[in-house]
Amino acid sequence: TPKIIRTIAVLRKEIAAFRMSDPSNSSVGFVPTMGYLHEGHASLLRRSASDNGLTVLSIFVNPIQFGPGEDLDKYPRNETRDIQVAAEAGADIVFLPEVKEMYPRQRVTNVTVTDVTERLCGASRPGHFDGVATVVTKLFNIVQPNRAYFGMKDAQQIAVISNMVQDLNIPVEIIPCPIVREEDGLALSSRNVYLTSEERKQALVLSRSLSHVADWMQEGITAIELVQRLKAEINGVSLADIDYAEVLTYPDLSPTDTNRPLIKVEKELLIAVAVRFGKTRLIDNRLLNPA
Ligand code: PAJ
Repeated sequence: TPKIIRTIAVLRKEIAAFRMSDPSNSSVGFVPTMGYLHEGHASLLRRSASDNGLTVLSIFVNPIQFGPGEDLDKYPRNETRDIQVAAEAGADIVFLPEVKEMYPRQRVTNVTVTDVTERLCGASRPGHFDGVATVVTKLFNIVQPNRAYFGMKDAQQIAVISNMVQDLNIPVEIIPCPIVREEDGLALSSRNVYLTSEERKQALVLSRSLSHVADWMQEGITAIELVQRLKAEINGVSLADIDYAEVLTYPDLSPTDTNRPLIKVEKELLIAVAVRFGKTRLIDNRLLNPA
């Protein structure tokens, strides 16, 4: 079973001891999460455990990445179950800091990433990615991992963190990992527990609409037409309230030439959607390699 650690000082000691113990196999892999772990988180942990001598999982519901009116207060938590999942997936250390441990005083420093934060979730959740970039910087400085593992479910988050480590010379290798889905296609998310059974059924429209995109592109459609078709399909379910449906180049997240057939764009494309079902906001995406 993993070591459960709640303070930065003890965590630093443990990691230092590990690095001393076997310098030949001392790479540290890090998986930052907000807990309520599912198979998506477990897949990151297993990948880290196979790549590294030590795997550190953090579970911290980071208050500064939630906006007013978002779900900070009711974000789901289950520490006991999380520790079990972490153990089974190969975590060696679970870091579970309290808010006061991470934010002991009024912060006067923030990390802001521009450009790749302008669209998608950055536009709908002002300040969200500053909160993510700031806490991930803190966690990277605390853990000092060789590699950090992130899920493509949050493709924009990966773009933000990748740009941040490049621009600030943070010596951590960012490893993107594939989206893990339920059998019926719904992308796993800690927030799926908020869904009523009717919303859960209708939520399949995210993965279903995205699954047509490759075929639509073969037909030669443009970005505008693709977004229209996605929105029409999503609006076809009664409880869906679209936040965004966008096509952007990846990883720079800039808009494509809207009138050109997408199949002729010589870049990777990110097709991303965010849809509200009642109070629950779900996201999903596909990365496509045209031609
Ligand atoms: P959280 O939403 O808990 O996600 C932790 C990691 O798990 C992220 O890298 C996310 O992309 C990945 N993940 C979530 N669902 C996944 C799925 N279905 N398949 C594959 N990976 C999945 O993302 C955060 O926490 C926070 O913003 C954090 C980075 C921890 C900073 O607070």
